[in-house]
Amino acid sequence: MDSLDTYFQSIAKGCEPANLYDPINYILSQDGKRIRPRLVMLAAELFGVNPDEVKHVAAAFEMLHNFTLIHDDIMDEAPIRRGMPTVYRQWNSNIAILAGDALAIMALQELLKAPCDDATKIKISDLFARTSLEICEGQQYDLDFETMDHVSIDDYIKMIRLKTAVMLAGCLKSGAIFAQASEADQQAMYDYGIHIGIAFQLKDDILDLYSDTQVFGKMTGGDIKENKKTYLYLTALKDADAQQRQTLLHYFSSTDFDQEQKIQAVKDIYESLKVKEKTEQAINLYAAKALSSLQAVSVSEDRKNKLYELANTLVSRDK
Ligand code: IPE
Ligand code: IPE
Ligand code: MG
Ligand code: MG
Ligand code: MG
Repeated sequence: MDSLDTYFQSIAKGCEPANLYDPINYILSQDGKRIRPRLVMLAAELFGVNPDEVKHVAAAFEMLHNFTLIHDDIMDEAPIRRGMPTVYRQWNSNIAILAGDALAIMALQELLKAPCDDATKIKISDLFARTSLEICEGQQYDLDFETMDHVSIDDYIKMIRLKTAVMLAGCLKSGAIFAQASEADQQAMYDYGIHIGIAFQLKDDILDLYSDTQVFGKMTGGDIKENKKTYLYLTALKDADAQQRQTLLHYFSSTDFDQEQKIQAVKDIYESLKVKEKTEQAINLYAAKALSSLQAVSVSEDRKNKLYELANTLVSRDK
């Protein structure tokens, strides 16, 4: 991943206008976990391709991811990411919107550099486009849910599948397509990605409240502040008594409350209902599903070690 970082640092360097390209340089130079390019490379490697060959596809997905983060932070009114001011705070929202648009287009240009035949490139591009559109769908559901009282756990899973899991699944499937894996194996890799993706977002919801900002790099309590219908909130609402339910609905009806007070009150209810533990159980369930999808891939088990390990690190992470 070092070579990818070096590449990202040079990608928009010195380009003009500076207010379009400086924010792109800024976000691509930050120290993200680079999970998505890792998934593309590991998938290609699993089917016998040198990971270096698939680096343009890997870079394209990381660029697409960073574009979604720039816009997500505007939508979520998030002040910090990766321990630094978010793009729209460092510059302003207009600049962040345009830098995000440009980065999404640069991601497509990057994808088209992949050294493969046209039919393979079209398959990967089609998946890339579908994935991008599904992320927009998921992000819109996420926003819609902020002002809805009745959101089911199923609605929530559908939403995070779209906003988060399809990207991880798309990375894995793209690596498999590049490596000319069979359709069945492409699908098994995709399913593995959906399941770890869901577990990954559940973990992100936990970390949003139960983490150290210094380590996590994002402001804690942001989801409560923004009335996000997370798994934690929906589980609390499902298990609450009448009094707790009233308190939750009251605090989630507006964003104008004193933040500290709101976060503490909601956190107290989560604590008494053991919501964090229940979310961890759901994570384990999806992690187990991910492992069985990976088992279905027709490659010998000892070659899958890195992917099994990755699934574990993604759900036990603290950042
Ligand atoms: C953040 O993704 C967005 C989510 C889907 C939760 P990551 O947690 O992978 O962010 P970086 O790239 O490592 O900063
Ligand atoms: C992330 O959801 C989904 C996308 C960026 C597409 P979140 O809003 O929970 O992500 P973070 O917590 O801001 O990284
Ligand atoms: Mg969001
Ligand atoms: Mg966000
Ligand atoms: Mg989050």
